[in-house]
Amino acid sequence: MPHVSRLNVKKLTFSAVLIISWTLGLTTSSAQAVPPLPKGEMTLRELADARGLLIGGAVAAGVLDPDEPDLANGVAREYNVIVTENAMKWVPLNNASGQFNFTLAEFMMNFAAKNKQKMRGHTLVWHEQLPRYMGAITDRAEMMAELKDHVQTVVKQFKGRIPIWDVVNEAVSDLPGSPMRETVFTKVIGPEFIEMAFRWAHEADPDAKLFYNDYNTDGINGKSDAVYELVKGLLAKGVPIHGVGFQAHVDINFSVEGSRMRENLERFKKLGLDVQLTEVDVIFRGDAPKAEKLERQAKVYADLMTACLAVKCSAFVMWGFTDLYSWRSTAYPLLFDDDYKPKPAYFALRDVLIKTPK
Ligand code: XIL
Repeated sequence: MPHVSRLNVKKLTFSAVLIISWTLGLTTSSAQAVPPLPKGEMTLRELADARGLLIGGAVAAGVLDPDEPDLANGVAREYNVIVTENAMKWVPLNNASGQFNFTLAEFMMNFAAKNKQKMRGHTLVWHEQLPRYMGAITDRAEMMAELKDHVQTVVKQFKGRIPIWDVVNEAVSDLPGSPMRETVFTKVIGPEFIEMAFRWAHEADPDAKLFYNDYNTDGINGKSDAVYELVKGLLAKGVPIHGVGFQAHVDINFSVEGSRMRENLERFKKLGLDVQLTEVDVIFRGDAPKAEKLERQAKVYADLMTACLAVKCSAFVMWGFTDLYSWRSTAYPLLFDDDYKPKPAYFALRDVLIKTPK
């Protein structure tokens, strides 16, 4: 079958199989299609473990698909941390005000526990994947009550089990001058919704590390300057924020050096904050032959990891595992191809982890 139709068929059956298998309580089989590494070679997970780095990726509920054991096996072998790609967002958890449903999120927690992986919580407050009832609220006190209830119920549910939370996601806009993004939160509550969310999350689990997370902030630019000022202001007010996540959704023409990424990460570290790359993927772009694109992609992945290690980042998290199930799957952004074969980027990341002194 050609690539596109195989992808569509897989994706169409994805949810159906998911629901059926979940209802029947089926588990994944032990078939292994992610090719084994040559004897003596270490996986990304082993290499990251050896230096205390979290390495991982977003996982959709595909791990539940009994016809697709490769994903579960690959993720278990290569990652020591996972993120639920959607299952911990506001809609899946709390789509009807106050009626929380943790079934899918807990299933993912079990997957992580079974594989001795940490869970990165994503994400408590985001203007997307937000239920209709939130958009209808116009009263400030009412929205604050909803926000508090959501943040605290979710954080308490996973207290002691989720060590890192993206508390606020994408609050800074892409407009020139990078003001705060206008959302229901800024309109009804005002920009203080950010510090409220951090304080409430901290109250619910004082041990969890709380992050602000955003995109197009990887290098030094107007938007990352705005994020820098935002978090500096939060720290000055004593808001419990512990880190900043840089999504790093980039393409094969991205220059880690040209964007001054290392310098950018360093300035956040100097504020006393932890830094993590949280949603790395590197899409194909342009007309170069495929082999060349794969090599460029490998170089970008390697450069991202090098910058991350240079500033002692604590996590390098990708937005998926295989191109087959990426949110940008038509642009081949991840380490494993549609057939679960490792791409040059996989070996490039391993090389950096092997060669960079601890
Ligand atoms: C994406 C998921 O990958 C998609 O499946 C979903 O349809 C939309 O959200 N930044 C984020 C992530 O913080 O939550 C987004 O995830 C990708 C961009």
